[in-house]
Amino acid sequence: MLDERGLIEDARSLGGNYHLLKIAAPGIAASAKPGHFVMVRVSAAYDPLLRRPLGILECRPPYIGLYFQALGRGTSMLAALGPGDSLDILGPLGNSFPEFPGKKVLLIAGGRGIVPLYHYAQVCAERRPLFLIYGGRGKADLPLLDRIKALRLQGLFIFSEDGSLGQKGLLTSGLEKIVREERPDVTLSCGPEPMLAALAGLLKPFPMQNLASLEAIMGCGFGVCQGCAVRTVTGALRKVCDEGPVFPLEEIQWPT
Ligand SMILES: Cc1cc2nc3c(=O)[nH]c(=O)nc-3n(C[C@H](O)[C@H](O)[C@H](O)COP(=O)(O)OP(=O)(O)OC[C@H]3O[C@@H](n4cnc5c(N)ncnc54)[C@H](O)[C@@H]3O)c2cc1C
Ligand code: FES
Repeated sequence: MLDERGLIEDARSLGGNYHLLKIAAPGIAASAKPGHFVMVRVSAAYDPLLRRPLGILECRPPYIGLYFQALGRGTSMLAALGPGDSLDILGPLGNSFPEFPGKKVLLIAGGRGIVPLYHYAQVCAERRPLFLIYGGRGKADLPLLDRIKALRLQGLFIFSEDGSLGQKGLLTSGLEKIVREERPDVTLSCGPEPMLAALAGLLKPFPMQNLASLEAIMGCGFGVCQGCAVRTVTGALRKVCDEGPVFPLEEIQWPT
């Protein structure tokens, strides 16, 4: 884990409240793997005090790429930064997705949950068959689609709730058919909690390994504050920041 001063090389708005940052952070870029995340101090002043957790979209040393939705105060302050600005970044943090050599992998991304899965696809698409299901509320929530189409995916399935792009409906509505046809060995997923909870039920009948990357409200990002704990099916608590964010989907106690 490094505490690095990152220098913003490029900052783009992708419309709506979505943003991309390209940041020179050589130490983090050299060691980050798909699934890792960073804790970003959004202001040089200590207000807001807590860093914000963000996944790593891509890693091209010395740069890392972040893709985020400006939702509240912290991410809006981040969205206001531009080239030449610098920020404190802690990372890489958490665990990462295993590579699964020789396995057929289905990636399942809801909205900004595309971040760690895009990173995985960038690193692994040339080494094994990869399929991606990508869903959002509408076209405006899927602004990375052109970049995704440039990846060497074996199959890409797009869903939008309003029908403005791809198939109309939640991505979970088409999941079973895709799994039956493509027969993946592994699924890797990231997205809103209701989506992950639905996946846990839908994927249960299939003989696959299912891993999900979780989000949680985080204080420290490295195992000290206990603020990110989630309950597992055994009743035990696991910390998303340093025991995750990647967990077996079936291990988590999802809300019913
Ligand atoms: C491991 C991890 C990776 C993440 N990766 C990304 C990413 O790549 N891109 C991205 O856009 N977002 C990502 N998030 C979510 C992001 O951290 C939150 O959206 C952000 O912290 C909100 O900060 P804020 O100050 O803008 O919002 P606040 O004003 O603090 O809150 C705005 C809204 O966001 C919710 N929120 C706050 N913190 C979190 C959180 N940690 N996780 C989920 N919801 C939260 C609040 O409940 C509230 O509804 C990730 C979260 C985690 C834990
Ligand atoms: S965020 Fe502090 S222990 Fe996980």
